[in-house]
Amino acid sequence: MAMTKINEILAKERFTKDDIVFLLNTEGDDRKTLLAAANAVKIKVLGNNAYYRGLLEFSNICAKNCFYCGIRRDNKKVERYFVPEAEVLNAVEYAYHAKYASLVIQGGERSDKQFVSQITDLLKKIGKLTNHEMGITLSFGEQSNETYEEWKSVGANRYLIRIETSVRDLYYKLHPEDKQHDYSKRLQALAELKALNYQTGTGVMIGLPFQRVEDLAEDLMFFHDFDVDMVGMGPYIEHEDTPLFQYRNELWPKSTRFDMSLKMIAILRIMMPDINIAASTAMQTLDKLGREKALKVGANVLMPNITPVKYREGYLLYEDKPCLDEDAAECKSCLEARVHLAGDRVAYGEQGNSLHYYRRINQIP
Ligand code: 5AD
Ligand code: SF4
Ligand code: FES
Repeated sequence: MAMTKINEILAKERFTKDDIVFLLNTEGDDRKTLLAAANAVKIKVLGNNAYYRGLLEFSNICAKNCFYCGIRRDNKKVERYFVPEAEVLNAVEYAYHAKYASLVIQGGERSDKQFVSQITDLLKKIGKLTNHEMGITLSFGEQSNETYEEWKSVGANRYLIRIETSVRDLYYKLHPEDKQHDYSKRLQALAELKALNYQTGTGVMIGLPFQRVEDLAEDLMFFHDFDVDMVGMGPYIEHEDTPLFQYRNELWPKSTRFDMSLKMIAILRIMMPDINIAASTAMQTLDKLGREKALKVGANVLMPNITPVKYREGYLLYEDKPCLDEDAAECKSCLEARVHLAGDRVAYGEQGNSLHYYRRINQIP
């Protein structure tokens, strides 16, 4: 029997851009074949482990003005906050005792001296409090190489900075074209983090205004060619107090944005079997079972929110973000049930470092 096109592509060592476009456009049985193949790769290479990262949304104070983001500098409706040190340490202690084993500390982009040393001090205290046992991911945007070094020296070992889109022209439709939003600086930041031996993560939004399926294929090839260790990506969701809201009628329907996100995860898992891929919170916004479905097609990381509830309203990057009123303990049990639904187990007490990272730094082919 002649091989069907889908099986022919899936059997390849390396996908071309056309292959990826084909896979992104699959429907019906072909789509099912793709998603099942991705799940099989995950189980074979990584097992059915879901790793937790306690997510702390440290501050919504941001110097940038990204056109898609609800906490952009010019959105005057947002009340700005940062979580005071004692409350951060309290949340970290919760995560530590709950055996999350890793943290993600995220916030708006600031690079003033005061901020940089505030984070440095915080990292020192977190290390002491947790006996240096937790994996620590930072996500504070573009910083100087010295800052990345400083934070690494006090315990940060992973860094997430989404490229948002790998297509330069599209990047400038999503950001002001100025020094502060420079696509080449974003690339440079990723390169510097990698050179400093951070586990380096990036990601994109899916279903952005002006974005084409070909652009998403480029994104996947970018992750592969840049050889990233971790990826977090999810659907774009409009926010009414942002400039991109004016294009809301031109977007793909939410169900399409969700489905494209699932296929993006699945294809990436096949292209990069040993990286960490997050089931993003934005997926859950568009589909009640969004994160479970992501786990089923290759994602292996979840980020239960540990931000004190009173600050969560302040961190609305997009509409209808989930977990607004649920505290850390509620998110823990909610997510655990979801992981089991997906047939996975929560790998409590394991940092869940990117396998790809070990291979990369030890130069194992
Ligand atoms: N929809 C989806 N994701 C968004 N982000 C920011 N705004 C939105 C939005 N409207 C994502 C960006 C950023 C991350 C912190 O949140 O990709 O890198
Ligand atoms: Fe700031 Fe990040 Fe939002 Fe851009 S996406 S405005 S850098 S918080
Ligand atoms: Fe927060 Fe479900 S994960 S309520």
